[in-house]
Amino acid sequence: MHCTRKVTDGIHWVGANDRRIAKFENMFPVPRGVSYNSYVILDEKTALMDTADSSVAERFMENVEAVLDGRTLDYLVVQHMEPDHCANIVAIIEKYPEVTVVGNAKTMQMIGQFYSGTKAENTLLVKEGDKLSLGEHELNFVTAPMVHWPEVMVTYESKEKILFSADAFGTFGALNGTLFDDEIFFDAVWMEDARRYYTNIVGKYGPQVQALLKKAAGLDIAMICPLHGPVWRNDLELLLEKYDQWSRYEAEEDGVLIVYGSMYGNTENAAEVLAAEIAEQGMKNIKMYDASVTDCSYLIAEAFRYNRIVVAAPTYNAGLFAPIEHFLNDMKALNVQNKKIGLLENGTWAPMAGKHMKAIVESMKNMEIVEPVISIKSALQPVQMEEVRTFVGELLK
Ligand code: FEO
Repeated sequence: MHCTRKVTDGIHWVGANDRRIAKFENMFPVPRGVSYNSYVILDEKTALMDTADSSVAERFMENVEAVLDGRTLDYLVVQHMEPDHCANIVAIIEKYPEVTVVGNAKTMQMIGQFYSGTKAENTLLVKEGDKLSLGEHELNFVTAPMVHWPEVMVTYESKEKILFSADAFGTFGALNGTLFDDEIFFDAVWMEDARRYYTNIVGKYGPQVQALLKKAAGLDIAMICPLHGPVWRNDLELLLEKYDQWSRYEAEEDGVLIVYGSMYGNTENAAEVLAAEIAEQGMKNIKMYDASVTDCSYLIAEAFRYNRIVVAAPTYNAGLFAPIEHFLNDMKALNVQNKKIGLLENGTWAPMAGKHMKAIVESMKNMEIVEPVISIKSALQPVQMEEVRTFVGELLK
């Protein structure tokens, strides 16, 4: 049976949830699943705001049909061409052949790239500032390039003051019957997934998110309808403030994130000794992860969150232990910046990890490295404790 929810009298959620998916984009674990949101607007004309992933195609199509309740679909607005939202474009065109596909020039190009055999009979090319009247509802198109693909646009519906925000303001996590932010405990239950979604999916594009936030600030927004996760109608400030902070690469908390790699436990032991000294010197907010155990997407979210980071790694093949190399390169790729960072290397005969870690960190923006890098040979020695105390003092300064 169809499963939809009313957003307002004229707007309905017709998305679907996937709790079988192991990894979003085949990269990021989603133990709480994910929702693919889509919305139907009923007015003199009908409009569908994006489609959904192929994994939920049957349910999605059933939902659209149920809400249209015998009416035809006049417009399909394509805000984003990543396949988790565009996978049912062909099915929609086949089912409603008279539909007008609405998108910008890049959207149309990507439809051709993904679905070369498909031709919508009717298309409407829009650009920044264009409007489309559905009757009482009016769609205003706002481009949001690189949030997080170049063709992305968001849509402001001026009658009900709703921002259809594409991927922006989305989060991992399937909806559990609940749809709105005032129906859930967002801060306690959803925030970590929201942070992990933002930092890993959109994190690289902070300046572009800032540009979108500036455009949004000029709109009177009562509700935000993203393509993943809950609809925002109550505490919009909560997520807008987080987005502002994340996209400015400003840490949320004063604390120390320790990420270590360890083959036989000796680098781990050194990290434990460092952590204990960090606590001894008064820091209460310490998080510690083994990079071989915890998926990198969680480490990235924590790297955005804290202002101080310690990375400890063995030397491997005269280079860097692979899980740590991946973590640091991912930090760099996602533009993590404005951190104080301490490094510890291990090497039984020729320690090289520190040199490699430094090279990556130095290529990132506004990273303050605690000098000198702590270097251990096989294991941390009692004679190095003074060095550890000084290092921690510098880190916390
Ligand atoms: Fe949810 Fe960029 O797709």
